[in-house]
Amino acid sequence: MYLVLLGAPGAGKGTQAATLTKELKLAHIASGDLFRQALSKGTELGLQAKAYMEKGQLVPNEVTIKMVLDRITAPDCAAGIILDGFPRNVEQAKALDEALKAQKKGIDKAVYIKVSEAELLKRLTGRWICRSCQAPYHEVSSPSRVKGKCDKCGCELYQRADDNTETIKKRLVVFFAETAPLIEYYSKVGKLIEVQGEGSMQDIGARIIAALKVKKSNN
Ligand code: AP5
Ligand code: MG
Ligand code: ZN
Repeated sequence: MYLVLLGAPGAGKGTQAATLTKELKLAHIASGDLFRQALSKGTELGLQAKAYMEKGQLVPNEVTIKMVLDRITAPDCAAGIILDGFPRNVEQAKALDEALKAQKKGIDKAVYIKVSEAELLKRLTGRWICRSCQAPYHEVSSPSRVKGKCDKCGCELYQRADDNTETIKKRLVVFFAETAPLIEYYSKVGKLIEVQGEGSMQDIGARIIAALKVKKSNN
């Protein structure tokens, strides 16, 4: 299965992808995580992305599209993928469709996780992330068991440089201007599923699974 998770910054794409990938046995490809990994390694790609990410702007399409299309040809993607944060504008969506079509594949569904702006701000300003495995936590709604340490791997938690109120507001403007048109893009071809993204993380996951009409894997 090929799924796209659509949603504003803080909508819960990474949170839901982490459980959905296990339940549906799909690879999780998050463009933002790929950029942050490149940045922490100090690669050319990371340096190219840095200035855009800090300003809350999109990294140029020529850089982003190549990075993601290269990644989805890896063997772990053969059984299907959940794309989180990509595509983020119509040009990226078209490039993805073309690349999958060339492999006689295609996007099955795009899940739009809808969350109010006030809730998005609360989520992002309280978010902490694992430096190693990227697992997201929230200081109020889902704190780690030991303060500042990841439950899954024990590594240090940090706050993203773009999770400050000023940059979050810029990211929201970019979302509504450039990414929201993808809601119509996938709706027109009958692939859009809209899910109410407020409530417990488990309930939202169950809503997505129900809307996809798939069975969870029990192992
Ligand atoms: P990216 O990393 O993709 O960030 P984003 O889209 O801004 O989304 P976030 O990761 O902030 O939010 P999320 O939806 O994953 O929420 P999460 O699950 O963590 O992109 C960052 C930057 O990289 C971009 O600005 C751009 O510069 C660049 N970039 C990336 N992709 C690109 C592309 N395709 N093209 C060009 N540039 C690109 O949850 C948020 C918080 O809420 C967490 O603390 C979590 O614990 C909490 N939470 C989650 N669910 C719930 C719930 N139900 N109730 C309460 N709290 C919850
Ligand atoms: Mg994310
Ligand atoms: Zn971790």
